[in-house]
Amino acid sequence: MPLPPPEEKPRYVRDMFAGTARRYDLMNRLMTLGQDQRWRRLVVAACQLPRGGHLLDVATGTGDIALEALRMRPDIHVVGSDFTPEMMRIGQSKDRHQRMPFVEADAMHLPFPDNSFDAACSGFLMRNVTDIAATFAEQRRVVRAGGRVVCLEITRPTTPLWRDLFHLYFFRFVPRVTAFFSSNKTAYDYLPASTLAFPRPPALADIMRSVGLRNIQYRTLMLGTIALHGGEST
Ligand SMILES: C[S@@+](CC[C@H](N)C(=O)[O-])C[C@H]1O[C@@H](n2cnc3c(N)ncnc32)[C@H](O)[C@@H]1O
Repeated sequence: MPLPPPEEKPRYVRDMFAGTARRYDLMNRLMTLGQDQRWRRLVVAACQLPRGGHLLDVATGTGDIALEALRMRPDIHVVGSDFTPEMMRIGQSKDRHQRMPFVEADAMHLPFPDNSFDAACSGFLMRNVTDIAATFAEQRRVVRAGGRVVCLEITRPTTPLWRDLFHLYFFRFVPRVTAFFSSNKTAYDYLPASTLAFPRPPALADIMRSVGLRNIQYRTLMLGTIALHGGEST
């Protein structure tokens, strides 16, 4: 399936996540073979928050990174933002003690003042936006100089045999699992298509640099299928 044209992508993405919200967490656990929460803990660690620090989880969805951050670091303050209320409502139901605000917002136009956070992170957001550089630039803007901007995303492995297996997994298995759990029947083609179109880790690092983030570092996880990038705001 071709990806939706840029002008239709935000609505398409929002509808897709609204339709999968109730089954999103279960789908994640199944498709990542239970590894996704471990990656989220690495995201929180990469944010290098100071004691009592403020973290923004952009595209928080059902709040898994944000809530993991609060579990790991009860001393910090976390805000989650996303443009799909249906996803955040699931997150709110998991946040039994209402420890964090969920704010409806587009990742490319964050409703927060400059330098208002010690770190910003996103998990599985960047494939879905129409302008990756503008999205990182917003995170750089709201994070104080020296604070961290961290990104977790799916990426394509480069090792020949593993690359072929990954294609099989992604184009055959993932669409079937997604189709089974999703009420939006086109959602199952979108995930592999958006991953193929997404920049490889060195190119993503260049995009981060281009918006003024510095000291960019990245590593890949899960046999090169997941990339974790971090940079410093200026
Ligand atoms: C794959 S989910 C990831 C949720 C969560 N970060 C996680 O780790 O499970 C992607 C989320 O990004 C949100 N999203 C996509 N594009 C967005 C945008 N431009 N602005 C705000 N949220 C966006 C979707 O609504 C969805 O909740």
